[in-house]
Amino acid sequence: MFDLIVISNAWVHLMAAVLVIGGSFSLNFIVTKKLGILSPPEAGKLSQVVGKTFGQLAWIMSGLLILTGVARMIGLKLFSSQVLLETTYGNILLVKLALFAVIIINSVLIAKAGMKLEKLGAEGPPPADQLKAGQARIKTLSMTNLMLSSIIVALAVAMRVFGAP
Ligand code: HEM
Repeated sequence: MFDLIVISNAWVHLMAAVLVIGGSFSLNFIVTKKLGILSPPEAGKLSQVVGKTFGQLAWIMSGLLILTGVARMIGLKLFSSQVLLETTYGNILLVKLALFAVIIINSVLIAKAGMKLEKLGAEGPPPADQLKAGQARIKTLSMTNLMLSSIIVALAVAMRVFGAP
């Protein structure tokens, strides 16, 4: 029974990682690249709606990553300063958590930029320069998060290779 819990927890952790990285990849390399076939107001509306919906999914997945990650850390007895500070595995996990914290901060900034654009759009057609600046900011932060989460996967694989102490 315990094995089933461990496997289910690791599966949920991996699925949450796959969905958030896959979604971000599709948004950044497919959806936004094809918006040009629409008129600027339609493209602005679509990217806003799609961005907002993906944002909600990403927050749910981040919550699952934290819950299943902490459960895994408890299961592997990793909440010890000796393990985290004095083992290669622990050091890698600390770097992983630091990068994850940056992803969360960026996600808050993306949500704030999205809300600002939405408010601008509610008061009539938003000034083109502010719309462009807001969309560019969201793009940069979102691409940064995609890159950071890809690095986190590499760190997770390194953790598996080193093996929990
Ligand atoms: C973007 C965020 C994250 C991604 C993409 C991610 C990805 C992964 C992947 C792919 C694995 C499986 C590696 C394997 O079994 O080969 C893994 C394992 C693990 N993750 Fe995460 N993770 C993330 C966030 C977190 C967080 C926030 C925590 C802690 C709170 C965490 C703790 C762990 C632990 C303890 C393992 C188990 C490693 C082992 O089996 O030795 N992860 N993660």
